[in-house]
Amino acid sequence: MTPLLAVRGLGKSFSGNVVLSDLDFAVHAGEVQALVGENGAGKSTLIKVLGGVYQPDRGELLVEGEPTRLRSPRDALARGIVVIQQELSLAPHLSAEENIFLGHFPTTRFGTVARGEMRRRAAELLDSLSIEIDPSVPVGRLSIAQQQMVEIAKAISLQAKVLVLDEPTAVLDEKRVATLFALVARLKAQGLGIVFISHHLEEVFRICDRVTVLRDGRKTGEAPIGEIDQEWLVARMIGRDFPAHARQARRFGKPALELRGLSRRGEFEDVSFAVHEGEIVGLAGLVGAGRTEVARAIVGLARPSAGTIRLHGQDVRIDDPGKAARLGISYLTEDRKAQGLLP
Ligand SMILES: Nc1ncnc2c1ncn2[C@@H]1O[C@H](COP(=O)(O)OP(=O)(O)OP(=O)(O)O)[C@@H](O)[C@H]1O
Ligand SMILES: [Mg+2]
Repeated sequence: MTPLLAVRGLGKSFSGNVVLSDLDFAVHAGEVQALVGENGAGKSTLIKVLGGVYQPDRGELLVEGEPTRLRSPRDALARGIVVIQQELSLAPHLSAEENIFLGHFPTTRFGTVARGEMRRRAAELLDSLSIEIDPSVPVGRLSIAQQQMVEIAKAISLQAKVLVLDEPTAVLDEKRVATLFALVARLKAQGLGIVFISHHLEEVFRICDRVTVLRDGRKTGEAPIGEIDQEWLVARMIGRDFPAHARQARRFGKPALELRGLSRRGEFEDVSFAVHEGEIVGLAGLVGAGRTEVARAIVGLARPSAGTIRLHGQDVRIDDPGKAARLGISYLTEDRKAQGLLP
């Protein structure tokens, strides 16, 4: 079967740094293809080539078997290739229906937007995808999960044949992931080819049919999902076998940061832990468990209602992020584009 979209011998460099080399990759109709690899392996670069954002330096790109040049994302869109970036790109002040039809509004014979028809078609579309969203609400007021659904609906309204999802689950809680996966399954049944990027390997086993592994811009493995296991994947991602119990006794320095009984009414309660010099501490929990709220309290973005913070053995009061920065605490926000940068 001719793949919907393929690259052969793809090479891409940025100012002399080879980011992708000699890469073959294909997406077929009715298939969910996983793309996995460590940070910096080249996954996003590959899908930017597929989506017309970057031009390949070497190799060829084939759309339904035909060698094609995609000069821009608009070009890719015209060929039915839609890439949904991790950072969503909807217009927040426009409604879901306006976002869906932005760039291809139904028009009246006077050339104005046919609002009634737009609403009807948006409702039909959302309904056919079992997406429960009021199409007239500005998307800025929707949850991230709902915004993602709107982006996917937009892709479908553009007659997408290939849908690429770059880490779509990174921002979703468990229940929303299930909703997204149900939608992916429906689109697959409709014959779309889907590329799914995720760092959560269990998700790859849950919804993907095939997997391609990248390491340092090269393909290190490709297989039907039924023929492999997690160890196979990890070995190809990191380039060696990963011993199941690799943890050695390590030595850390003095406590650098200590939280004692830190609480913030309605958000988290009695949180205590210490981070030592040279140590990485993971803060785990489901979405909504309060991890971000704890981090925000540490950097002075929210004031704790009880408890203390010690830095290198001294009690400190951190009233604002400026103070945190002066004390040598940096905060990389969860939503880097909206909260971490002034683009
Ligand atoms: N525009 C660019 N200019 C220069 N280097 C780039 C550019 N885009 C990506 N790179 C480099 O290419 C390599 C691959 O990056 P890419 O973003 O494709 O990785 P990734 O697999 O998507 O990683 P992650 O899992 O962190 O999203 C990295 O070393 C990155 O620094
Ligand atoms: Mg990436």
